[in-house]
Amino acid sequence: MNIVILAAGMGKRMNSALPKVLHPVAGQPMLAHVIATARTLSPTKLVVVVGHGAEQVRAAVGASDVQFAEQAQQLGTGHAVMQALPLIDDGQPTLVLYGDVPLTSAATLKALLDAAGSERLGVLTVEMSDPTGYGRIVRNAAGSITRIVEQKDASDDERAIREINTGIIVCPTARLRSWLSTLRNDNAQGEYYLTDTIERAVQDGVEVVSAQPAALWETLGVNSKVQLAEIERIHQRNIAQQLLESGVTLLDPARIDVRGQLTCGRDVTIDVGCVFEGIVHLEDGVLVGAHCVIRHAKIGKGSRLQPFCHIDEATIGPDGRIGPYARLRPGTELGEDVHIGNFVEVKNSQISHHSKANHLAYVGDSTVGQRVNIGAGTITCNYDGANKLRTVIEDDVFIGSDTQLVAPVTVRRGATIGAGTTLTKEAPEGKLTLSRAKQMTLDGWTRPVKPAKK
Ligand code: UD1
Ligand code: CA
Repeated sequence: MNIVILAAGMGKRMNSALPKVLHPVAGQPMLAHVIATARTLSPTKLVVVVGHGAEQVRAAVGASDVQFAEQAQQLGTGHAVMQALPLIDDGQPTLVLYGDVPLTSAATLKALLDAAGSERLGVLTVEMSDPTGYGRIVRNAAGSITRIVEQKDASDDERAIREINTGIIVCPTARLRSWLSTLRNDNAQGEYYLTDTIERAVQDGVEVVSAQPAALWETLGVNSKVQLAEIERIHQRNIAQQLLESGVTLLDPARIDVRGQLTCGRDVTIDVGCVFEGIVHLEDGVLVGAHCVIRHAKIGKGSRLQPFCHIDEATIGPDGRIGPYARLRPGTELGEDVHIGNFVEVKNSQISHHSKANHLAYVGDSTVGQRVNIGAGTITCNYDGANKLRTVIEDDVFIGSDTQLVAPVTVRRGATIGAGTTLTKEAPEGKLTLSRAKQMTLDGWTRPVKPAKK
């Protein structure tokens, strides 16, 4: 099968410099959703018709299995499909999809393809209580489709029809080629209508059949930010529904955003306001507190994230205790039972089992052993303005509060670092190392006093 996706429109009502089909739904351009669905049908040719912002669209969704046809001027849906004709095969049917209709399911498209087979023309239609603006499906007394009439060209009787054209059609390609060559634009909009091929099919004795989507929202298009927001909510509701059905507890299914692929083990609980991006896996028993943002991460069995954590390209081992207000940046790998507390930032570091940094610390470019305690206010000075340098903290180390570890530096096994130390050289195994100015008290010092007001 050939699939042609129309994506040339400018989307004036989006009021945006970004081409309409690149506006994201769940973090991905809406056109990428359509292409992903198209791929599940294993098309032999996959052609995207581009126009407005063509270069940007190509760059955003270009792939080896996608071909692009350019429609320089948007002269109508029929004209758009014509631009794809040199790239598609006559031997198999052509399915027409839309880059701004992102939620159509593969199952619905399969139902349409099954109804049409290789000889018939199939139209995906729906009944709408308010069909204003859509093309109407005109049927004869026997109930067969005879044509589609656009809102602007329709008579009052035709406008009363509530069965509408979703725009999605499939038909034999050689026929399509000849029908398109006969299209005229002498209609209310001065456009070459793809929908006029239905009448041509009837004239040629090609049977026209219809199929309906499993849900009405599958065929909703996006022409404005209002509709984009509606589509986003529908899509998120569907994802939340799948998570609930798979056994995940969502404190409020209306307050979760998944912009990628979230997979969960058993007995996972997610509190409100969390955002998941990219590929995220939560193992059995994970608890995600409110308002966490988690991107490209794996969170181990039984780990608990307190509210307001930001996790990006990080791995958390089993039984972690993270947050509130923790930030794990790319390259963070935490072992089992690691505690990262409030206002602690970890970057490009491995922290091994049972180690803790509970308050106000920065651990960057570090290798931290097991059972290490990193005191409040500890900072790894990993950057000299040009180079990133590593800090190594071996097993059973205790770092006192407010320590600066000036990398490259190593703290040997079992060492203790006194509070307030600026460590610039290796701290030997099992000993107390500290750098601290001697404490003094000045006798006879008096605090300055403000002059008395007159
Ligand atoms: C079209 C259908 C109408 C249907 C409706 C469903 C026609 C003539 N009418 O109307 O029956 O009910 O969709 O939403 O087909 N596009 C191009 N190049 C063009 C024109 C359009 O790529 O020259 C793309 C647009 O970017 C858009 C899609 O095709 O994604 C539909 O175009 P639009 O102008 O919105 O069609 P409608 O008038 O809504
Ligand atoms: Ca439209």
